[in-house]
Amino acid sequence: MKVKIKNKTKNIRTVWMEKNIIKMIDQRKLPFQLKFFNAKNYNDVAFVIKNMVVRGAPSIGATAVYGIAQAVMQKKNIKNAAKILRKTRPTAHDLFYAIDYMLNEIRSGNDAKTSAERYVEKLVNECKKIGIYGEKLIKNNYKILTHCNAGALATVDYGTALAPIRFAHYNKKKIFVFVDETRPRLQGMLTSWELLNEGIKHRVIADNAAGYFMRQKMIDMVIVGADRIAKNGDFANKIGTYEKAILAKENSIPFYVAAPVSTFDFGLKNGDEIRIEERKEDEVLCIKGKRVAPEKAKAFNPAFDITPKKNVTGYITERGIIRSGEIKKLKSV
Ligand code: MRU
Repeated sequence: MKVKIKNKTKNIRTVWMEKNIIKMIDQRKLPFQLKFFNAKNYNDVAFVIKNMVVRGAPSIGATAVYGIAQAVMQKKNIKNAAKILRKTRPTAHDLFYAIDYMLNEIRSGNDAKTSAERYVEKLVNECKKIGIYGEKLIKNNYKILTHCNAGALATVDYGTALAPIRFAHYNKKKIFVFVDETRPRLQGMLTSWELLNEGIKHRVIADNAAGYFMRQKMIDMVIVGADRIAKNGDFANKIGTYEKAILAKENSIPFYVAAPVSTFDFGLKNGDEIRIEERKEDEVLCIKGKRVAPEKAKAFNPAFDITPKKNVTGYITERGIIRSGEIKKLKSV
């Protein structure tokens, strides 16, 4: 992804490995500071995933493959590393997919570092393809709403929901992005940071403003990412996605989910079977560490919600754009 560092544009990834250190952009510090975090062992890797130094389902998966490779290189107990990493964030399917992939590679006698790099290169390539396929849906002058951050930060490079937006911009289409702020953790600011680095026109809007803009006919399409997609097409994504989907349907606006096949969980019949992560109350009671709620107030903080398949126009994947009825075809390849 393009990032401006000291007035120079550089191309960097969200997470990568140097020798046996896993390096990543510290997403807790954005958008104000571009700092990097070094994970030196699998306990560090569990920390960065749990505390959202790195976040977004595909980036979590990439960090986990590096974490397992690092544990192999350090001659640590791999079963234990896998067990600890599995406990970090329950909803992101890519995390479990990535760990299973690494355990399988190790069992087959493959070099762990090479396998981890292969996984990440494949992921980056998948996101690029999502961008190329999804771009075709975006017409000139389109105004697109997105929720949370499903950009390069969430996927190592390109993004899922942001990939078609990036490619529309590269292909000189005139576009404008409505960026949901995405309470409680404000991932919309990460999206704004990415779009500013790319020079893509956008505005941040309060989470509860999307309906207003839809009714004003100012939004032509919605593209979001996903954390886990069940076999029938119901999917989990950042809290607030469900209501955006309902609003889009009410206003006859196409609603697309962009995700690599690694986000599909073919073992789940429908969205009711997806486990939703409940995070600390403080994320709701405070903003950027400053308490905004009365001292004795308590909060609920589900990190994701489930959007039923009937609200989804299509799924933008690295294998093309599909409808919910076609999901089973993805499994067989
Ligand atoms: O809690 P987060 O910030 O990890 O949640 C991220 C999302 O909900 C993204 O939309 C999803 O992981 C898709 S990222 C390409």
